[in-house]
Amino acid sequence: MKVDVLLGLQWGDEGKGKVVDVLTPKYDVVARFQGGPNAGHTLEFEGQKYVLRSIPSGIFQGDKVNIIGNGVVLDPALFKAEAEALEASGHPLKERLHISKKAHLILPTHRILDAAYEAAKGDAKVGTTGKGIGPTYTDKVSRNGVRVGDILHNFEQKYGAVKARHEQILKSLNYEYDLTELEKAWMEGIEYLKQFHFVDSEHEVNNYLKDGKSVLCEGAQGTMLDIDFGSYPFVTSSNTVCAGACTGLGVAPNRIGEVFGIFKAYCTRVGAGPFPTELFDETGDKMCTLGHEFGSVTGRKRRCGWIDLVALKYSVMINGVTKLIMMKSDVLDTFDTIKACVAYKVDGEEIDYFPYDITEGVEPVYAELPGWKTDMTKMQSEDEFPEEFNAYLTFLEEQLGVEIKIVSVGPDRAQTIERYTEE
Ligand code: GDP
Ligand code: IMO
Ligand code: MG
Repeated sequence: MKVDVLLGLQWGDEGKGKVVDVLTPKYDVVARFQGGPNAGHTLEFEGQKYVLRSIPSGIFQGDKVNIIGNGVVLDPALFKAEAEALEASGHPLKERLHISKKAHLILPTHRILDAAYEAAKGDAKVGTTGKGIGPTYTDKVSRNGVRVGDILHNFEQKYGAVKARHEQILKSLNYEYDLTELEKAWMEGIEYLKQFHFVDSEHEVNNYLKDGKSVLCEGAQGTMLDIDFGSYPFVTSSNTVCAGACTGLGVAPNRIGEVFGIFKAYCTRVGAGPFPTELFDETGDKMCTLGHEFGSVTGRKRRCGWIDLVALKYSVMINGVTKLIMMKSDVLDTFDTIKACVAYKVDGEEIDYFPYDITEGVEPVYAELPGWKTDMTKMQSEDEFPEEFNAYLTFLEEQLGVEIKIVSVGPDRAQTIERYTEE
C-alpha cells in the first residue's frame, strides 16, 4: 500500500482539518508529520465545532488509529488541554492516539524564546503563533532537543540541561519572563502524556502498509510557509511540503500515493510577510467578513486577497499534487467578478514563474471571470453548479494542470462535494 498526503498549497488555513475528517472513513490510519500547536484545524459536524492543534483530524471518524509522527513538535501542556477537552466531549483517544518517541518536545522556555526572538526583531518580526515552534526545531537541528522518548529515560536531567541553556540565552537578551505557571502546566502535561502509547511510528506506519492498511498523512501550515520553499524568512520552521511526510513519518518516497493539494478559492495569510495579491480595500474586507477569516489559534485577522496562480503552480510542482481540492467557494458567492493572478510584473517585465524574492516590486497580473452569484452552501452535487462556477473550476484546472476533485461549499462536514471522475 501507499500513503496519501493532504497538504496546504497556500499560506495555511486552507481547510485541511475539514477535508481530512471527510476523507478519514476511506483510511485505516491518519498521521500528522510536521508542525505542532501552531496549527489550528477546524472541523464542524452535527452542530459542533472543534479546533485541533496537535491531534490529527482523523480522531472523530470511527476508531481509526491516529499518529503524531516524529516530524511533529509537541507541547505537553497544550496537548493535555486539547486531549482532555476532546475526552470530555465524548471522544476518547487514549487507545487510538499513538505518539512517536522521536517527536520533539516544546519546552516552556522554547515559548519564551519565541517571544524574545520576535521582540528582538522589532518591525522585522515574523508574526509567529508564539508557540515555540522555531526554537524547538532549532534545538532539534542543532542536536539539543528533548524528545517524547526521553520522558522515560533520565528526563529530569535532560530537561534541566536544556532549560539552563535557554535561561542563559534569555539572560543575554535581557528578556524578562516568569516561568512558574508555564512550567507547572508543562510538568502536568508530561505526567498526562505518560498515559498514551509512545511508539516507533516509522515501524508502525510501515507495518500498516505491509499489512495492506491505508494511511492518510495530514499536513499542517501550507507550502508557502515551508522552511525551504516558502516566503523565507516569513515561514514556519518545518518542511510543510510533501517530502515532509517522508521525513516526518519515515515513509520512503516511493511509498507516496495520491497527493491532495488543498487551496481556498481566494487566498489568505496570517502573520507578516509578502502576499502579492493582498487586498487593502473593501473587497478584501468582504472576503474577511464572509470567510470569517480570523486565526483559529491566535484569533488574529487573516489578510485576504485574490487567488495567486503563480504561487499555486509552484506549490503544485513542489508537492507533485495529483488531486486538487478547492475550499470556501461559497465565500465568493456574492462577488460580481472573480480575479485570479496569472502572472507577476517584476521591474516592468511579466513573469509566470515564482521568483526567488517576492518581498518587493511584485505586481499581480489578473485574469477576470464572471462571478456565479448563487448560494453554493446548499449544493448537494456538481450537477447543481452554476455555469460561471464550472467555468472558474475549468479555468483553474487548465492553469494548474491538475483536476479539482473535491469542492467545499461551507464549513460543515456535509458541505463537501466530490466531483465525478473519469478514471
Ligand atoms: P486548516 O488549518 O487548513 O485546517 O484550516 P482552518 O480550520 O484554520 O481554517 C479554515 C476555516 O474555514 C475554518 O474556520 C473552517 O471551518 C472554515 N471552512 C472550511 N471549509 C469551508 C468552506 O467551504 N466554506 C466556508 N465558508 N468555510 C469553510
Ligand atoms: P494551519 O495548520 C496559518 C504562520 C504564522 C507566522 C509563521 C511562523 O492551521 O494551516 P510559527 O508559529 O510557525 O513559527 O509562525 O507561520 N503559521 C500559520 N499560518 N496557518 C497555520 O497553520 C500556521 N502555522 C504557522 O502566522 O506567520
Ligand atoms: Mg488553521
